[in-house]
This record gives sequence, C-alpha cells and structure tokens, in this order.
Amino acid sequence: MTQLPDMTKVFDTMRSGLAIVTTAYRRKPAGCTATWISRVSFEPPLVAVFLSPQRGTLDMIRKGKRFAINILGEDGLELARKFGFHSGADKFSEVPYVTGQSGSPILRAAVSFLDCRLEGINPLGDHEMVLGLVQHAAVQRPDAPAVYDPATFFIEGEQAAEANGAVHG
Ligand SMILES: Cc1cc2nc3c(=O)[nH]c(=O)nc-3n(C[C@H](O)[C@H](O)[C@H](O)COP(=O)(O)O)c2cc1C
Repeated sequence: MTQLPDMTKVFDTMRSGLAIVTTAYRRKPAGCTATWISRVSFEPPLVAVFLSPQRGTLDMIRKGKRFAINILGEDGLELARKFGFHSGADKFSEVPYVTGQSGSPILRAAVSFLDCRLEGINPLGDHEMVLGLVQHAAVQRPDAPAVYDPATFFIEGEQAAEANGAVHG
C-alpha cells in the first residue's frame, strides 16, 4: 500500500453541513458541534453522527438514549463556536430551545432539526457512529444551511486548539 497523506488535509476537502448535536439525561441538556453527520436511510428514516469517545455529549446520548441534530444556518457560526470548543452544560445559557418529542433540545436558531431515538452506538476506529431513528423532523426557516469550511471557520488561536485535538480527533 502506498503511504497515506495526512488524512486531515484530505478530509478537509469533503464538504458537509454544520450542526449542534443535542441530548438530555435527567433533564440536563448536553450538546456539541458536529460536522461528521450523515443521512443513512429514507425508510426507516435513519441518520448518523460520528463522535469522538472523548465527547461529554456522547456519554449523555448513551445514558439518555436520544439525540437531535440541529442543522445550522449561515448565521450559526457563533453557536458552532459556543458548542465546539468547551465541554459542559453552560453552553445552553442564552440559547433559546424547546424540548423535542424525544426529550432532546431543539434549538430555535436551527434551520432544521432531526429529533431521534438512539438506535445504537458502534465504535468505528477512533470515532463512534451514533445511529438515530428519526421521530420528528422539520425545516424551521427557509434560510440557507451553513457549509463547514475549515479554511475560513477558525479565527485566531482556534486553529491551535484544533491541532491539539481539542476540536476534533
Ligand atoms: C466546526 C466543528 C466541528 C466539529 N465536528 C465534530 C464532529 O463531527 N465529531 C466530534 O466528535 N467532534 C466534533 N467537534 C468537536 C466538539 O464539538 C468539541 O470537542 C466539543 O467541545 C465537545 O463538547 P462536549 O464534550 O460537551 O460534548 C467539532 C468542533 C467544531 C468547532
């Protein structure tokens, strides 16, 4: 096999949306920014998010057995920063949300959301595939969804945090 290049460089050419993955356990909300998200099936409606085992949100999804994918609009970069660089529940302060049918927070600012029951968590390499059966989904506003571009997303200092694995990996 030929030598593989730095996978980050190649993965960074794969465009995807930007979401806040939320969950709740014992009425405590949790959530983190995620760009490794995917549709999986129409019937039944399945979606997946790929989380590092270090994410507090993953622990909470395991316990609460539910999660929601909140798709951000182009105006959602501040939220992506708020949820993407720190662990803990204080992320929800001053973030308007309602509780979805599954019990997960649905952010008012999301362009759309997929409210899911946890179907299973499969460790795959250094990430875990969190598979959800969609219970409820809606487009909340007509605005354009954000497209995550690592070349323009990070502002001073944040790229260093990413390099240290705080953001991803
Ligand atoms: C733009 C962006 C995209 C991210 N995408 C993912 C992702 O797809 N999977 C993941 O495990 N972490 C991802 N992260 C990192 C988590 O959001 C971050 O580590 C967060 O602080 C985890 O919070 P928690 O420990 O409260 O769950 C991303 C961060 C940013 C800023």
